[in-house]
Amino acid sequence: MWRTFAAISLAMVLGSAAPAFAQEPCKPGELVINFSHVVQSTVDPKGDFATMLAERVNTEMDGKACMQVFPYSQLFDDDQVMEAMLMGDMEIAAPSLSKLEAYTHRYRVFDLPFLFEDIDAVDRFTQSEKGQELLQAMSDEYGVVGLGYLYEGLKHLSAGRPLVVPSDANRLKFPVQNSDVSVAMIEAMGASAQKLEFREVYGALQIGVVDGQENSYSNILTSRFFEVQDGVTETNHQLLAYVVFAHQVWLDSLDADVREQFLTIFNETLQEANAQAAKTNEENRQRLIDVGYAVRELTPEQRAKWVDLMRPVWRKFEEEIGVDLIEAAEAANQSKPD
Ligand code: LMR
Repeated sequence: MWRTFAAISLAMVLGSAAPAFAQEPCKPGELVINFSHVVQSTVDPKGDFATMLAERVNTEMDGKACMQVFPYSQLFDDDQVMEAMLMGDMEIAAPSLSKLEAYTHRYRVFDLPFLFEDIDAVDRFTQSEKGQELLQAMSDEYGVVGLGYLYEGLKHLSAGRPLVVPSDANRLKFPVQNSDVSVAMIEAMGASAQKLEFREVYGALQIGVVDGQENSYSNILTSRFFEVQDGVTETNHQLLAYVVFAHQVWLDSLDADVREQFLTIFNETLQEANAQAAKTNEENRQRLIDVGYAVRELTPEQRAKWVDLMRPVWRKFEEEIGVDLIEAAEAANQSKPD
């Protein structure tokens, strides 16, 4: 009975994939700012950010600018959205840092498994000189400006069976983002990886094309992976975060006052969204537990086995990433590296 109640209350929280706010049509003469992303529009750090940003722009810049949000891959997948931006067909995009290898390998540091302890550590690194420099990794060659880092959370591993020690993942197949570091991470577990678009993961789990998945609590909840998996192991094994991009040509095309007002609203909203990302993931962790989804915590000894297994992944990419950058990222953690 309680599970039914929890499922009903969850359905009310999740709602539909449609934008969380009434998306009024833009008025004649307003600057139209389109924002396409791949997750739900609410109960999710990136979805909440896009919703908050659109509400502020459409209220405070009414008559001057109008933001239209296209969540849940309605318009583009992450690979497509960057192509669209380069063609001048999309104004704002926020792809995962793991999905930019086609343009630059400089974001691979963020993909190293077990690198960051928590979002606070990520924030310390991204706000550092090296982190800020990385934000513009694509500006020279592609003209896309990193407006800021947006945080989702750390990811966890699930399958149709409990995963406690790494050998539990042997011979399973997991979907990964378009990231060679993630492929190496999954293969280090003795499993196989298949690159899939985010919107393909639920169906692949449902028909058994893949055996498990790895994502944040918010994405596991809002994309309903809990419906086709028995539970998750709280591995915190890899970061899920984004860069919010705009094209320099578009930014330069704006009237100075419009650009200044938009960027002020953007920066304030980004700061607000990042401040609540960890809380949103914690709330979504509890919502998953409330509907009977098993959340398995690892003992320090069990977790150490996963961390040890992933060390070779660091060595495989450290020459390209640079030991200095890895050490700068590690230094952002509160505790000493493992
Ligand atoms: C994924 O593909 O798992 C993520 O990029 C989805 C997201 O949070 O953007």
